[in-house]
Amino acid sequence: MLVKRNHNHNGIDLPFSSEITPRAVFESRRGFIRQMALGSIAGSALFEMANREVFAQSASSQKLIGVANPAYASIEKKTSYKDATTYNNFYEFGTDKADPAVNAGSLKPRPWTVSIEGEIKKPMTLDLDSLLKLAPIEERIYRLRCVEGWSMVIPWMGYSLAQLIKKVEPNSNARFVEFITLDDKKQMPGLRSSVLQWPYVEGLRLDEAMHPLTLLTLGMYGEVLPNQNGAPVRIVVPWKYGFKSAKSIVKIRFTKEQPRTAWNVSAPNEYGFYSNVNPEVDHPRWSQATERRIGEDGLFARKRKTLMFNGYNEVASLYTGMDLKKYF
Ligand code: MTE
Repeated sequence: MLVKRNHNHNGIDLPFSSEITPRAVFESRRGFIRQMALGSIAGSALFEMANREVFAQSASSQKLIGVANPAYASIEKKTSYKDATTYNNFYEFGTDKADPAVNAGSLKPRPWTVSIEGEIKKPMTLDLDSLLKLAPIEERIYRLRCVEGWSMVIPWMGYSLAQLIKKVEPNSNARFVEFITLDDKKQMPGLRSSVLQWPYVEGLRLDEAMHPLTLLTLGMYGEVLPNQNGAPVRIVVPWKYGFKSAKSIVKIRFTKEQPRTAWNVSAPNEYGFYSNVNPEVDHPRWSQATERRIGEDGLFARKRKTLMFNGYNEVASLYTGMDLKKYF
């Protein structure tokens, strides 16, 4: 987002998925499927769900089925799977939007563990199967608004992060939650670049992390997460700019102090800790008043008005009395 030499941040559009060579798309997809076949879903047979609803995946399947949550069954047109998986920000795999789809085949999403530590009564390390079984998987259609001025509508699969937080029992010191991405040069070629300080770190206030909207995300479009979208586990915080939604998380740490987050460290005047979607607070280099929906990028495509909190007004009470221009 910051890289000045990266022309997408300076008003010149990058290629859209329709212009990306079908071969690159094909290769990345094939890599993804191959990884799945190599046992990435191994061990998960049928899950016992609280509501005993649909939930089956086999060793040969990349499917991840969740029960559609009616509160987030958006009537907006979903972004196509192709656009959502070929127009990405994942700097660990390059700074161009097309890079992650082409390069993320080197990420191994299985085996994977997430260590949960810090100011909690029950520190634990959970593997992917434990995460998949921790709570019923829901499908929630959320808008994701990137600070660069584009948005998508994606059916994510997961459950409220609050479910996990309750299990680890934060102690009275816990005020913030830090999300830390994998930091492995062998799997992530982009880590050789100094575009950001690695690992990628993001954070939320504990009450933001506990808000039911905050989604511990394990899949999208009825499948496990593709590597380029943050396999095997990421956060999605739909009322905040997309960079708050850290991908490929290996550590969740509860802290007393506000965490130092990757983009905030890199340019504190451009990327605040809160980063709530707010059409009235512009980024120094981009207006935030409007956005373009990926997939509607024709010559005559209209820009959409950006909504406060990306339209998720139910979070407004988290910020009562706060000056959101100061705490941008
Ligand atoms: N997480 C990590 N680890 N590295 C990144 O570069 N980019 C962020 C966020 N999470 C990023 C990340 C940004 S800027 C956005 S807009 C979203 O991921 C994009 O998510 P998507 O590619 O699934 O749409």
